[in-house]
Amino acid sequence: MDRYTVGIITASDKGFAGEREDVSGRRIKELLSPETYEVVSYCVLPDERELLERELLRLADECRVNLILTTGGTGFSVRDVTPEATLAVAERNAPGIAEAIRAYSMTITKRAMLSRGVSVIRGQTLIVNLPGSPKAVEESLSYLLGTLEHGMDILLGRVDSH
Ligand code: MTE
Repeated sequence: MDRYTVGIITASDKGFAGEREDVSGRRIKELLSPETYEVVSYCVLPDERELLERELLRLADECRVNLILTTGGTGFSVRDVTPEATLAVAERNAPGIAEAIRAYSMTITKRAMLSRGVSVIRGQTLIVNLPGSPKAVEESLSYLLGTLEHGMDILLGRVDSH
């Protein structure tokens, strides 16, 4: 079966300015086994809604990736706008994934309730917001991956939905 194509976006003012190394984006790449996933795009953007929206649209509509994973910008800081950019490009809501991230993460830290991340579908692209820290990325992504694959198979019409 074809590998899932993936676009990764790190939303971080400091990362974009070169003041912080993007450990989280790199960690996402490492967690995606190359036998199953092909990372076709990776970029670090500032926490600017318009730029994030434009990149989400490029990945979904032009690159037609199966999955977009974002990291960062899901918290309460006034600069955190990743969920708003994601909702702006959404065609259908897929709230269970964001709910699962928070529910599982709450078993690790109560601060998981402070992530506003969302999960949505645009066309045949699934978009999932992960929190910003490498630890949070690791915890949430390893919990999700197997189930995301089943979801993508349904979205792509590769399997029946049960
Ligand atoms: N989720 C997991 N699994 N592990 C964590 O350490 N940190 C939380 C939360 N989700 C955390 C987590 C914290 S401290 C914050 S403020 C929010 O994610 C938002 O993070 P972001 O603004 O970097 O996206």
